[in-house]
Amino acid sequence: MPALQAETVSVRFGGVVAVDRVSLSVERGAITGLIGPNGAGKTTIFNVFGGLQPPTEGRVLLDGKDITRVKAHTRARKGMARTFQRLEVFGTLSVRDNIRVAAEIRKAWARDRSRPAAVAEELLDRIGLRDVAESRVDAVPTGTARLVELARALATRPSLLLLDEPGSGLDQQETTVLGDLLLDLAAEGMAVLLVEHDVELVMRVCDRVNVLDFGRLIAEGTPAEVQADPAVQAAYLGAEEGDADEDLEEAGVR
Ligand SMILES: Nc1ncnc2c1ncn2[C@@H]1O[C@H](COP(=O)(O)OP(=O)(O)O)[C@@H](O)[C@H]1O
Ligand SMILES: [Mg+2]
Repeated sequence: MPALQAETVSVRFGGVVAVDRVSLSVERGAITGLIGPNGAGKTTIFNVFGGLQPPTEGRVLLDGKDITRVKAHTRARKGMARTFQRLEVFGTLSVRDNIRVAAEIRKAWARDRSRPAAVAEELLDRIGLRDVAESRVDAVPTGTARLVELARALATRPSLLLLDEPGSGLDQQETTVLGDLLLDLAAEGMAVLLVEHDVELVMRVCDRVNVLDFGRLIAEGTPAEVQADPAVQAAYLGAEEGDADEDLEEAGVR
């Protein structure tokens, strides 16, 4: 049974159909990719999974149970952690304290014997943030802040990790480290949903890839299958042409 499933989920904003009857599964011990051009509906369905966006129709299942109407904070207690496309960190706190606060919040509801300070130290090493542990998060590069956000998510000890564009703002080396970390987490049994703009990263680490275009799921398969799919190629070429037009407009050429 998949860890997380969307069953014919649609989201409409007024006249805009942001997500159109999408069904997809996120398996345990694997990385599931979700890609698509800008505006395809990735963040919207991501928010449906996280409980921040109620679907207009369809269901969300966690371990086979309907959680469509379960609130975001309750999903967190059921093992779901997420990062945001727009960074969510405490800028005035140090990297270490950001991670520790997340571990403390978890301890408050899990009521277990975990030690937040020890969890923070472990994650500083695991994510490679030891050198910037004392830095305020608003003083570190965006790529580093993204890794802090990921460390905060992991500090809640999730079994299911949802990531919205974790690669944005990361340099080549940070992206490689991120990819390796996600592969390790999946190998340990975690279910990872990776919404990502960086197609190279997705193709390297994902077991299965889902492709959205204009709110519709146009392809699902292994990275190789998806890359070879003419519909996927057309969606990306179309998007690139659109971007080029916008760029030209902005430059005053049109
Ligand atoms: N809160 C909202 N209200 C109205 N339209 C929205 C809202 N959020 C997203 N949309 C629209 O839904 C579509 C999908 O957006 P989004 O899920 O952010 O795409 P992606 O993450 O793939 O770039 C876009 O057309 C976007 O303008
Ligand atoms: Mg998005």
